[in-house]
Amino acid sequence: MANKQTVVHLDQLCKAFAEGNQQREVLTAVNGEFYQGEFAVLLGRSGSGKSTLLNLISGIELPTSGEILVDGRSITAMKERERTLFRRDNIGFVFQFFNLIPTLTVLENVTLPMELAGNGRSATKSALNLLEQVGLADRRDTFPDKLSGGEQQRVAIARALVHDPMLVLADEPTGNLDEETGERVLKLLLDLTRKQNKTLIMATHSPEVVPFADRVFRVHDGQLLTTAEAQRQIHSVPTPFIVPN
Ligand SMILES: Nc1ncnc2c1ncn2[C@@H]1O[C@H](COP(=O)(O)OP(=O)(O)O)[C@@H](O)[C@H]1O
Ligand SMILES: [Mg+2]
Repeated sequence: MANKQTVVHLDQLCKAFAEGNQQREVLTAVNGEFYQGEFAVLLGRSGSGKSTLLNLISGIELPTSGEILVDGRSITAMKERERTLFRRDNIGFVFQFFNLIPTLTVLENVTLPMELAGNGRSATKSALNLLEQVGLADRRDTFPDKLSGGEQQRVAIARALVHDPMLVLADEPTGNLDEETGERVLKLLLDLTRKQNKTLIMATHSPEVVPFADRVFRVHDGQLLTTAEAQRQIHSVPTPFIVPN
């Protein structure tokens, strides 16, 4: 792990949600780092806090206490506007339910993040390039409801990468796809992020993802647990390893 550049640093991160007049803690003093170019997988039971953690790292939500640095910058110290701009520049997000805008074409969905970030001029070129890479350039003028789930998620992947973010967060990106389609979408997302040395943090229920990961974590009891470091095994037969409960 020598010379690994830290892209995400979590320091004593706590997140509680109000439940009646009680506060329920979902994350309790979570510490951790994610490195440049790595593919980190977050496992954990439904309700364990995986989405919460990704939303905090993206700056969509704020922690109850603690600090998050992304590329050395404290997103938790930023004002909302600054955090929004920082997210638009540096982070891509892939959701379980694609979250494409139904009234926009495929191409418009992909260019949107760049237009929001004020880079509208180069948006079309970058978007077409990415649509090419996800195999959907010929569907550029189609609307999302004409696409299959797998195709929609490929558009969402193009959208997440179009502004060339250093960090990509994916929340159960294959959770709404059949196994075969999910595998293709996963490979595509991995290929594209690896090729560009981006950090990918993925919450998932799919154990098939584990052999591809550089590191595997488990969100459990408010904690982010590291497992024995998974080896990079993209092209080899995965050896089984044990994820602690
Ligand atoms: N906005 C919210 N308000 C209240 N409780 C929430 C909110 N978001 C998540 N939670 C609660 O936090 C816990 C963790 O949720 P989540 O992060 O979505 O888990 P996971 O993604 O691992 O399934 C759950 O108990 C959930 O009900
Ligand atoms: Mg979730």
